[in-house]
Amino acid sequence: MINNDSLAILGGKPTFDKPLERYNSFGEEELNAANEVLRSGKLSYFLASWNEIPNIGGFYGGPKVQLFERLIEKHFNVKHAVTVNSWTSGLIAAVGAIGIEPGDEVIVTPWTMCASATAILHWNAIPVFVDIEDETFNINPDKIEEKISEYTKAIMVVDIFGQSADMEKINRIAKKYNLKVISDTAQAPNAMYKNHFAGTIADIGGFSLNFHKHIHTGEGGILVTNDDNLARRLQLIRNHGETIVDDMGVDDISNMIGYNFRLGEIEAAIGIEQLKKIDKLVERRVEVANKIREGLSSLKGLRMPILKPNCTHSYYAFPLIYDKNLTGVDRKVIYDALKAEGIPTDIDYPNLHMLPMYQRKIAYGKKGFPWSSDIYKGNVDYSKGICPVAEMLVAEKIMIISICDYEFSDKTIDMYINGFKKIWSNLDKLKSL
Ligand SMILES: Cc1ncc(COP(=O)(O)O)c(C=O)c1O
Repeated sequence: MINNDSLAILGGKPTFDKPLERYNSFGEEELNAANEVLRSGKLSYFLASWNEIPNIGGFYGGPKVQLFERLIEKHFNVKHAVTVNSWTSGLIAAVGAIGIEPGDEVIVTPWTMCASATAILHWNAIPVFVDIEDETFNINPDKIEEKISEYTKAIMVVDIFGQSADMEKINRIAKKYNLKVISDTAQAPNAMYKNHFAGTIADIGGFSLNFHKHIHTGEGGILVTNDDNLARRLQLIRNHGETIVDDMGVDDISNMIGYNFRLGEIEAAIGIEQLKKIDKLVERRVEVANKIREGLSSLKGLRMPILKPNCTHSYYAFPLIYDKNLTGVDRKVIYDALKAEGIPTDIDYPNLHMLPMYQRKIAYGKKGFPWSSDIYKGNVDYSKGICPVAEMLVAEKIMIISICDYEFSDKTIDMYINGFKKIWSNLDKLKSL
């Protein structure tokens, strides 16, 4: 039933009188798993050493970390999983592991969380932004080749919102130019690209386990690869590789600047329980998205997310395209009206190349390193206008529902949809705002 009460933005009663409940996928299983580790007192077994010390630990971490990794390998059908303490750490490890040199260029999309690009800068390499497709919002493969230069070494693909990028085309380009591919699949666990899990058809891929993802451990990340050498390099970067390469007999010590990117036993124990639920948790997000699609698809001026053939979507988010020409109401007014109803959406998606860091080329220190240094011979351009589709969508059209942030019971979904409908049945009143 459509709620025709007066709009909250015009002084009426809001659809929701309190904030939506935060998504919570934890139950007794996670509590018990975390408690078991706490009671043992053994919260980590990692040592920055190649030698295992019985009962103390070693290079590969503790039993929960190692079990979690083996279960991830089985679930995602990959040869190696390497857990890390955040997906930001995972991305840094991935860029280092593929052998990026200072001054190399790595292609990435402006529509991602900032860490995808800063992981590149982290190794004193240069992010080069390529525009997105307006259907999936992932990198547009047809725009990649024009940005490849003699300095390009890799492509960082991002499966934004929950649907895989066009990996066949991207891998074909990578092969042609001898580039490595990293897949930032933070938002798309369990999404399928043909017969493969998104994230598993790149040299290195992986997932975030931060608190607003489908499955989570508070903070954490998962790297996956089918390459033995890359797996070893990821493990070394995760765990102070510089102190270990000698004992391990590793020849290529490039980028073996080790870190502590190690996941704790409590997080791994929680991760094991979350992984058991991943199919159900993602299925529920898909169900939520489908109900929202059904409820909103008749509203004029709103385009529902487009699903690519042979792909599934895990709906971390539900991206809508808004067309003011069909409603006569500014997107910002709709956004404010929804917000007044207690319906959170997001229209300020950041175009990464527009961040001050790229506009001013200030990252390390004040002198423009690495762009201005001798190690970089290219001439990357971050001007407004380099990614016209991404920029136009942020300026005028995108409206995102964060499916993974909220609990979304069936009742909440119905109210959410009714809140939209209430606004759409009162568009005339909003035209003058
Ligand atoms: C696409 C993408 N990349 C990277 C990250 C960083 O992950 P984390 O928060 O686990 O460091 C996120 C987190 O939201 C993300 O969505």
